[in-house]
Amino acid sequence: MIKQQLLRLLKAILLLPVVLLACHTLVRIVRRFHKFPIPQFLANFIDNPLRRRLQPPDATAVRHGVEPGMTVLDVGPGNGRFSIAAARRAGPSGYLHTIDIEPKMIERVQQRAAAEGVTNIEARVASAYELPYPDDFFDLIYMITVTGEIPDPVRALREFRRVLKPSGAVAVSEILVDPDYPRASTVTRWAAAAGLHPVKKIGNFFYYTLVLGLDARQRPAQVEEQ
Ligand SMILES: C[S@@+](CC[C@H](N)C(=O)[O-])C[C@H]1O[C@@H](n2cnc3c(N)ncnc32)[C@H](O)[C@@H]1O
Repeated sequence: MIKQQLLRLLKAILLLPVVLLACHTLVRIVRRFHKFPIPQFLANFIDNPLRRRLQPPDATAVRHGVEPGMTVLDVGPGNGRFSIAAARRAGPSGYLHTIDIEPKMIERVQQRAAAEGVTNIEARVASAYELPYPDDFFDLIYMITVTGEIPDPVRALREFRRVLKPSGAVAVSEILVDPDYPRASTVTRWAAAAGLHPVKKIGNFFYYTLVLGLDARQRPAQVEEQ
């Protein structure tokens, strides 16, 4: 009796990754043809302890190159966990702007910033295609698991280019468990079409950050891998 129950449990444990992989693949196929922003009620689901272990918000801000005094843009902040970490790292002389196409996400960021007493942050509803900022405004623009959700990423990257200072950088972080995950080579191709060039790649196939710069002359002969 106990042996049978143990066997059933073992089967369930072995089956779970197969079911998860099948669901992931199915969602990936659907999302390839039909892109839309993640429903806002999933914002807290994707901000879970395992994710925070894999992508710690403070370390991610460092990885993106946020430095004290910088003017930074977080595109598609979700529930704002990463925005708060970036705003804290930018410090009192820096500022974190963030935009999301979903008004409910922006409400979440505003509530989180107020609850955590972070004041150097402004969250606005806007599309990545039309950023409500002047030319040459940001030192750094970053996106975390957003690129694959945008139907025309080249158009968004061109808009980033407009608001980026000539010395600025765009950091794109992606993780394989996201059904919209694009490979770094795909992001590099989109970036090149928008006039942005890879200057640094940190991480691995499972989780990477690609840092892009405006000026091809700043590009090292080989992309720096860390
Ligand atoms: C998968 S969530 C990632 C949230 C957060 N960056 C994180 O990693 O937890 C993608 C976010 O991008 C936003 N988004 C999708 N398309 C967008 C667009 N075209 N312009 C601005 N935000 C967009 C979604 O509303 C959502 O908040």
